[in-house]
Amino acid sequence: MPTESRPDVKPRPTSTHPLHSPDFYAGDPYPAYRELRKTTPVVWNDTTNFWALTKYEDVRFVSGHPGLFSSTKGITIPDPEQPEPVQEGNLIFTDPPRHRQLRKLINAGFTRRQVTLLEPTVRRIVADIVEGIDPSREYEFAEEIAAPLPTRMIAEMLGAPPEDWERFRTWSDAAVGTADPDIEMDSLVALGELYEYFTALIEDRRSGRVTGQDDLLSILAAAEVDGERLTDADLLNFSFLLLVAGNETTRNLIALGTAALLEHPDQLAMLRSDPSLLTCAVEEMLRYTSPVTHMARRATADVDIRGQQIKAGDTVVMLYGAANRDEEIFGPTSEQFDITRNPNPHIAFGAGEHACLGAQLARLEARVMFEVLLGAYPSIELTGDVTRLRATMVPGVKRMPVRLKASV
Ligand code: HEM
Repeated sequence: MPTESRPDVKPRPTSTHPLHSPDFYAGDPYPAYRELRKTTPVVWNDTTNFWALTKYEDVRFVSGHPGLFSSTKGITIPDPEQPEPVQEGNLIFTDPPRHRQLRKLINAGFTRRQVTLLEPTVRRIVADIVEGIDPSREYEFAEEIAAPLPTRMIAEMLGAPPEDWERFRTWSDAAVGTADPDIEMDSLVALGELYEYFTALIEDRRSGRVTGQDDLLSILAAAEVDGERLTDADLLNFSFLLLVAGNETTRNLIALGTAALLEHPDQLAMLRSDPSLLTCAVEEMLRYTSPVTHMARRATADVDIRGQQIKAGDTVVMLYGAANRDEEIFGPTSEQFDITRNPNPHIAFGAGEHACLGAQLARLEARVMFEVLLGAYPSIELTGDVTRLRATMVPGVKRMPVRLKASV
């Protein structure tokens, strides 16, 4: 029987690039991004059903309209095999006005002053890591040098004893890298253990067993805005979010940023000869490596983006890595790694309501790490290939063998 064509419904443009696949993000997605920006900037993935956006202005548009694009139904690329565990009421899964209320309360722990106060802790941890390096052996850079910093920072911020930081790592690896077969711990088991651990930390503060502390959980437990306070469930949700949001991301910024410097010796030499470029260099590392590949939203109404009809209920994925190399914003050098790029309006931390809460902390951690590491080691050499974790959102560095030498 012939089917009638419906003139009001345009066919959705698709592409052959497997934008739903962890392997795509663990490989080199940039040639595909470049092609999509040019040919099909708003493209439908018919394997797991979502729209993908590759243009900077479109990503900003979606980020800037939380009423039209909701976070409450999930924020990652859909995977029917492993549905996303949406935690209702958790900051990252809320829309305004609830999101604004929660964010106001949580901001108490993330003011510029709070982050400045963390600098001595960051310096102490970085000194510990860098002083402990033995130049006579090879290192797994991501795991042994980059990873301990964000994990220990979050552990210390939450007021957990430092001896627990290794367990934090296992939990966050399991919670983020779920598609990689090398990660053995079941993510639900990891979640269960984490919740138990955080519940104990929160109870210590609520019951008065731990008092007079200036850790984040103590600050948040006491925070009050317009007569409202965070509940134990809010604190629990938020502790979990911090671990997932702050760990792998910062570790990858440091590892992938280092890899970018090693792949561009001219840029590394420039940074070594002029350390005042460091702040600018970290921004370029964020743009060029985009450690978080995407965030997703669900359309709440029919909306047109670049001539494509997004229907209410459709999932829309913002590909930050693609947007961060958009020629229309970053010009003909958009694919190049240029540590002097200025201005650099990248959106590696997202934009709008949900823009990364830990952006200043991540920048601080990366800046101090590069300052101390490059100062102590005039030679950093990659001794094998860099391989990535199979994950759609944060395809972390799995292997990155390096050798560091104190003199060249
Ligand atoms: C290089 C490191 C990091 C990158 C690339 C990154 C990236 C992002 C992105 C893309 C978002 C979503 C923005 C949006 O939906 O518009 C986000 C949200 C968030 N990030 Fe980060 N992040 C990093 C480090 C951190 C750190 C260190 C922390 C905390 C310790 C953190 C805490 C959060 C939180 C709590 C949110 C949710 C904010 C909300 O929903 O209002 N992030 N981050």
